[in-house]
Amino acid sequence: MCGIVGYIGKQKASPILLEGLKRLEYRGYDSAGLTVHQNARLETVKKTGRVDHLVRAVDGQSLSGRLGISHTRWATHGSVTDANAHPHLSSDGRISIVHNGVIENHRNIKRFLVAQGYSFCSETDSEVLANLISYHYEKETARDQTRFVESVRKALKHIEGTFGIAVLCAECPDQLLGARRGSPLIVGIGDGEYLLASDVAAVISRTQNVVYLKDNEIVALCPDNFSISTINLEDVDPIVSRIDWSIDEVELGAHPHFMEKEIFEQPTALENSMRGRFAADGSTANFGGLNLSPQEWRQVDRLLFCACGTAWHACLVAEYLIERYARIPVEVEYASEFRYRNAPLEKNTLVFVISQSGETIDTLAALREAQRKGFRTLAITNVVGSTIAREADGGIYQHVGPEIGVASTKAFTSQILLSAMVALYLGRLRDMSYTDGVGLAEALKGVPALVDRILRENGHIQEIARRYSGYEDMLFLGRQSMFPIALEGALKLKEISYIHAEGYPAAEMKHGPIALISDRCPSVFLAPQTETFHKVLANIQEIKARNGKVIAVASESAPFPEGLADDRIVLPDAHEALHPILATIPVQLLSYYIAVERGLDVDKPRNLAKSVTVE
Ligand code: G6P
Repeated sequence: MCGIVGYIGKQKASPILLEGLKRLEYRGYDSAGLTVHQNARLETVKKTGRVDHLVRAVDGQSLSGRLGISHTRWATHGSVTDANAHPHLSSDGRISIVHNGVIENHRNIKRFLVAQGYSFCSETDSEVLANLISYHYEKETARDQTRFVESVRKALKHIEGTFGIAVLCAECPDQLLGARRGSPLIVGIGDGEYLLASDVAAVISRTQNVVYLKDNEIVALCPDNFSISTINLEDVDPIVSRIDWSIDEVELGAHPHFMEKEIFEQPTALENSMRGRFAADGSTANFGGLNLSPQEWRQVDRLLFCACGTAWHACLVAEYLIERYARIPVEVEYASEFRYRNAPLEKNTLVFVISQSGETIDTLAALREAQRKGFRTLAITNVVGSTIAREADGGIYQHVGPEIGVASTKAFTSQILLSAMVALYLGRLRDMSYTDGVGLAEALKGVPALVDRILRENGHIQEIARRYSGYEDMLFLGRQSMFPIALEGALKLKEISYIHAEGYPAAEMKHGPIALISDRCPSVFLAPQTETFHKVLANIQEIKARNGKVIAVASESAPFPEGLADDRIVLPDAHEALHPILATIPVQLLSYYIAVERGLDVDKPRNLAKSVTVE
């Protein structure tokens, strides 16, 4: 949420900042702005709307400075206006700041600063921090290079809440400062230049070497060197990591939208998630980073999965898969609920979190709460070096490459696949036979080819989407492991098409949602061939009897009565463990094509942001 980019080096800063902002736009797109340090002044340009508006506003201005900061905003405090856009300047014009996070005690600090003569021109919490830094800069006795960093350190000591910041001082032409607590920030180490950014997508075109800042660290970047210390004045030895993502992966290529690109990348993404993770005997999975011996796993009696959004749906699928194949009880909680619920957990519970970004604040807080209570934690994450990846006791990287589209697609199917592999691994540690293990492993290895087939045979889904794009309500229904996919189908449709949609277990439909059924509310049934297939057919009849239109997603060779559904999408026959992944592909395509048909901005749906780093 909110993207930050800072630059110090030999090049003109503004084009580099703007390119970085474009790559971070999925983090927020309410407004964008930048400050460039030049001629001992802080030149600031900011605009509501997309980064392209800012590009036009900057065009024609002579911004030649080689030091700058920039921001793309997802509004928290204060409405979407030019004044509330970042960067924010202190009222004396000395300090410019971009901020991601929430300053909870901003009202008290503001009252204090007003009494000291500082004035404010925005409604944001971030402007308070700009003035507070300026206040400490004024009071600071050090007169050398340390003056600026000391004033930032002192200001941050008074802050309650979360921040990822980049700061400039008009009197410091050779210093770019950054700091974080709760909001991500990385340092990109380039050739004679440094970048600061909320995530690696912003720096990847200039460097693959990065340092992930930890909470309560401050980085001071100069043209030729940088140093990191903590807010409490301890020096930190930076650990430089290498990003394994390539520039192609953060570009659209021939696709009109990242969402489409990422849906079609799924066969490769799933292959990459599995690579090297099956045991030599072919009967189980292997994970390098779980940091638990088989003996320790035998002590685990229960798993608790926590996540947000689409990743929470992946947890629900994990519950079905692990309970079925490993026979270990699983509970699933929204991370935002778990962190405050103080749920009593049984002694031998292991807590799993799932997060594509590894930065979702509620998921991170749930992880920390579980650790505080002494539970062992594991994470499934996509972003290497992310906070959750670093703080969990062990974990599994997804290896699906950067996911840029705000609506999660390839990360979701990979999270399901990895959950199935965890189910296989845990099953083989318990009661799953060698033969059943080989059968499940072989089935999982075949998933990329089956997904590829669904994608290649998707032409008619586009046509179905065209016919259903005018509805304003839709139901998604499925039983067992298809219930989470129904929830995911409804979420996808809501978030990118702005069509009201609900996901329900198909049998629950009779306990309320059936009242919505009419010729104005179609239903999507997820009905692969399982033991409840005939029950689902009965539910479809009930909808048809009430004039509801039905799209059925059903297995190729299932005995699906001719003419029962208005439209049919065929899934290849497959092992039941694969159904959740396979059924996801048509619902992704359906919502994508409906959104395109409605002329909507698929990659940047209104009010949303990809990485939710504020509560
Ligand atoms: C946001 C995104 C979703 C994502 C959720 C959790 O709501 O729009 O696509 O599923 O955050 O994100 P995470 O990075 O923790 O998986």
